[in-house]
Amino acid sequence: MNFELTEEQLAVQQAAREFAQTELLPGVIERDNKQEFPAEQIRKMGELGFMGMMVDPKYNGGGMDTISYVLAMEEISKIDASCSVCMSVNNSLVCWGIEKFGTEEQKEKYLKPLATGEKIGAFCLSEPEAGSDATSQKTTAEDKGDYYLLNGTKNWITNGNSASIYLVIAQTDREKGHRGINCLIVEREMDGFVVGKKEDKLGIRGSDTHSLMFQDVKVPKENRIGEEGFGFKFAMSTLNGGRIGIASQALGIASGAYELALAYSKERKAFGKPISQHQAIQFKLADMATEIDAARLLCLQAASLKDQKKDFSKASAMAKLYASKVAMDVTVEAVQVHGGYGYVKEYHVERLMRDAKITQIYEGTSEIQKIVISRELLK
Ligand code: CAA
Repeated sequence: MNFELTEEQLAVQQAAREFAQTELLPGVIERDNKQEFPAEQIRKMGELGFMGMMVDPKYNGGGMDTISYVLAMEEISKIDASCSVCMSVNNSLVCWGIEKFGTEEQKEKYLKPLATGEKIGAFCLSEPEAGSDATSQKTTAEDKGDYYLLNGTKNWITNGNSASIYLVIAQTDREKGHRGINCLIVEREMDGFVVGKKEDKLGIRGSDTHSLMFQDVKVPKENRIGEEGFGFKFAMSTLNGGRIGIASQALGIASGAYELALAYSKERKAFGKPISQHQAIQFKLADMATEIDAARLLCLQAASLKDQKKDFSKASAMAKLYASKVAMDVTVEAVQVHGGYGYVKEYHVERLMRDAKITQIYEGTSEIQKIVISRELLK
């Protein structure tokens, strides 16, 4: 077992850290206040290769391993979790899904612009009545010969308005249950596709989350990913990897809050000495640092298994379950260390605390992760 990062991985980590400090930190509070999508920042992330990190260079990607992706996600998330969720969905749900299961034509047409960030992707599984219970899809993709007729509504879609390529999960043959579900690549320009209401959220407020409506959208058959009826398995397999991205996002939110609390504790004085000299604060810092290290190791373990092409579904669920809890716990404590200052926007930790909550909900709630983990244990 080797815990050392390679020179290349360290370079990616350093590049992401510098980018986040210089390009994401300025304006992050304003973007959160205004719920402003970080379009310019995402464009730059694309130029630097952060939007298609693991994609094969022949499809314009960075050809990097999943460990590098975890490191970059952590650094970006320390500063701006709204940028990192856009990055995570694009990399690990949309690019990975098309690269792993798509046809050569789909990779040429869709993966190439996604990998450079020229286009942004969205993953459309959740519905008003199908969140955790993902097989209960109401959106239909009726087989009409050489196309599918797509009808229905999707909810809480990350990159809902900023994306131009959408992977849409829909039911074609209800009698076949999950084996009657397909995944279709939908282009924003297709007739009948409508971007619905923008959600006003507690956290990750810069990320644009929308409902989407599909009204008699004609999707060519060649836009189906995989065999007929593969859509649900496609979604589950893709989410296994997506959960490494969200786990790393949670890790970054936690480590960002911890670094702020650590620095603040050395500056702030109470009872005649820096608060870092009081055991009450020291114990908080010790707990935070220990939990963050454990979360990072789970993220890296899941990434390493994926890179070795071994089964990583349990590992990614464990990483997401644990890292998201750590994100919540650490950000709450970071606010506490900051006292009254922690409760105001200027000090960043209140935003990180708000951003942390969603990591226990999207890409499978903590309760769903426990189902995934326990099923693997009981196999
Ligand atoms: N990996 C690969 N395949 C899997 C799988 C996994 N983790 N989990 C299930 N499958 C396969 C099963 O093997 C099964 O196939 P077979 O019948 O051929 O064996 C098929 O999928 C159906 O599985 P289940 O019978 O286990 O299905 P279920 O109805 O019991 O549901 C579930 C399983 C784990 C609860 C699943 O519904 C689930 O993961 N729900 C959560 C959905 C989710 O994560 N939504 C997030 C939305 S996306 C998002 O948030 C993105 C964003 O914008 C940030």
